[in-house]
Amino acid sequence: MQDTTVAILGSGSMGTAILSGMVRHGIKKEHIKATTRKVESADSLAKKFGVTAYATEYQPNANSLAVEGAQIILLAIKPANVIEVLEQIKSVIAKDALVISVAAGVTTQTIESYLPESVSVIRAMPNTPALIQLGVTGISVGSRTSAEQLAVAVELFSAVGKTITLPENQIDALSTISGSGPAYVFYFIEEFISTAKAMGFSQEDSYLLVTQTFLGASELIAQTQGDPAELRRAVTSPNGTTMKAVAVLEEGKLHDLFLKATTAALARAKEISQEQK
Ligand SMILES: NC(=O)c1ccc[n+]([C@@H]2O[C@H](COP(=O)([O-])OP(=O)(O)OC[C@H]3O[C@@H](n4cnc5c(N)ncnc54)[C@H](OP(=O)(O)O)[C@@H]3O)[C@@H](O)[C@H]2O)c1
Repeated sequence: MQDTTVAILGSGSMGTAILSGMVRHGIKKEHIKATTRKVESADSLAKKFGVTAYATEYQPNANSLAVEGAQIILLAIKPANVIEVLEQIKSVIAKDALVISVAAGVTTQTIESYLPESVSVIRAMPNTPALIQLGVTGISVGSRTSAEQLAVAVELFSAVGKTITLPENQIDALSTISGSGPAYVFYFIEEFISTAKAMGFSQEDSYLLVTQTFLGASELIAQTQGDPAELRRAVTSPNGTTMKAVAVLEEGKLHDLFLKATTAALARAKEISQEQK
């Protein structure tokens, strides 16, 4: 893996998180080429990671320059830019290249249709905690992917957190859980902080109480690998205060609300997929 040559097309928040995982994983910085739109973004990548970075606003052929000779090509541009970028690279891409796309809603079939038949395509759906190596990434193979190429993708994303492999027809569903999930958690935190303030705590204390509770509970479950229902029961004494609060949450049909929210996200993912075709 150390000698693998990589092109990262689109090096914004996700591209940079994966780039930083690759560097930590031992891929030589001399073997990584990254692209951005703005010159200042490219300059800052080159400075921070010591990689070669090209900006399309300065070099319109930045993407094809980066792809020439690369064994792995990571597509981390916005979904709306994927097709234009595939058009730019299709004539220079290596015959045995592996393309890994993190672009939401763009299928491997669509990507494969723009590239030579010998090029393999994998789709991955990471989430933002990848920025601190605590991500979880769903990985799906395309129609031309070998077991070795899948293993390469798993190894790459393991540098930014955990991975699961799944059939591509489940990747939109996965994105409604782990992809959007951090936003749900931040929303709970926002609401919980506002509740703490309504109970009379200052903003600073509310923030501390709530964020530390989320961190502590998450760490407890991660370290014990426990059943969440069991852990909840352990802090819920019969007829105690927590029991009263949980009963109110149950009356509010939290389960139905989750299902409704993720179903809405899934319907939108399907619409976006159609828009990309
Ligand atoms: N962020 C997430 O949590 C997340 C999770 C899963 C999947 N994804 C997927 O990851 C992809 C990137 O998302 P992001 O959040 O990282 O977006 P972002 O921060 O806006 O990054 C986009 C990057 O693409 C560059 N760019 C724009 N047009 C380009 C072009 N024609 N050629 C090369 N580079 C170009 C931008 O350059 P400048 O910086 O110079 O403008 C920027 O570096 C999306 O497809 C998204 O669906 C993101």
